[in-house]
Amino acid sequence: MAYNKENYRRIRAAYQTKYLKAYEEAERRMEELHQKSPAIAEIDRKLAATGAEIALAALGTGGSYREKLAEVEKKNRALQEKREALLEELGYPADYTLPPYECPYCHDSGFVDTKMCECMRRELVLAAYDSSGLGELMRTQSFETFSPDYYAADPAESATMRKNFELLRDYAEGFGPGADSLILCGATGLGKTHLSTAVARRVIERGYDVYYTGAIAMFADFEHARFGTGLGEQAVDPARYVDCDLLILDDLGTEVTNQFTNSCLYMILDNRINLHRPTIINTNLTGKEIKARYTDRIASRILGGFNPLLFTGTDVRRQKLTKK
Ligand SMILES: Nc1ncnc2c1ncn2[C@@H]1O[C@H](COP(=O)(O)OP(=O)(O)O)[C@@H](O)[C@H]1O
Ligand SMILES: [Mg+2]
Ligand SMILES: [Zn+2]
Repeated sequence: MAYNKENYRRIRAAYQTKYLKAYEEAERRMEELHQKSPAIAEIDRKLAATGAEIALAALGTGGSYREKLAEVEKKNRALQEKREALLEELGYPADYTLPPYECPYCHDSGFVDTKMCECMRRELVLAAYDSSGLGELMRTQSFETFSPDYYAADPAESATMRKNFELLRDYAEGFGPGADSLILCGATGLGKTHLSTAVARRVIERGYDVYYTGAIAMFADFEHARFGTGLGEQAVDPARYVDCDLLILDDLGTEVTNQFTNSCLYMILDNRINLHRPTIINTNLTGKEIKARYTDRIASRILGGFNPLLFTGTDVRRQKLTKK
């Protein structure tokens, strides 16, 4: 697991604030209650003192220790019962002065013993969705919403697409550092973006930092970083393309290729390969076209190191339109 560092820092800090707030709220309620009820204030003073009595009893030796302890505990219980009765009389719940934590398991610390609490994991996953660059795609494109029916017309195509589906689903389930890099090739509308989004979702849910980007947007970010032009305020720090656990580079080949974009692409691929960080490339280009369009060292990185999945069939977007 390698949660996005920025998200992790932010969420850890938010938990610390939440935890403190609950604690302060408990103190505030305690003061309020003591002002309303001097009897409860008196009981709380006595209860606080029993802690010291227990410590003192523990210093004693032999049989007298157990007796003393039992005695203190009995007194303690009686005080608690009286306190609860008084609270009820005043119309307060019995736990009114306990810190109102949001999570009963980790008390808003984010951890149970040394294990991350489910509530914090959920927050991290939601934040990871947000910082994945996937946006709206995430809503509709998943393994569950991927239908094999669109490839049913041709048995060979259908078999190929079933294999792609299964391979990508298993890939997402087994994803970890050092997983294969993949290249999804094929014409427009065959489900490349859909299935790579599905992979992203699942890999994010499993705790990894995933970044999805279109090729054009990615090169614009590099341009912005270098020349101060491009997407302006929306620009993403290019380091994100190297740092994430899984990079999904969609529509490679739709950008205007030049020396600058070539050196950016090479830098990303080379760094990611050296760091054993997998990449998924989606493209309409064939292997031949990749060789023709990019420099030799880029083409050899992709064609030599990426596991190819060929997408076949008839444009699903068009099939959906004609069905309507
Ligand atoms: N097998 C499928 N089942 C359901 N919807 C699909 C399927 N394949 C593609 N789509 C949908 O068709 C549209 C085009 O698919 P997309 O993944 O964008 O194609 P590509 O990236 O290969 O050009 C998207 O809206 C996608 O959700
Ligand atoms: Mg696409
Ligand atoms: Zn929790």
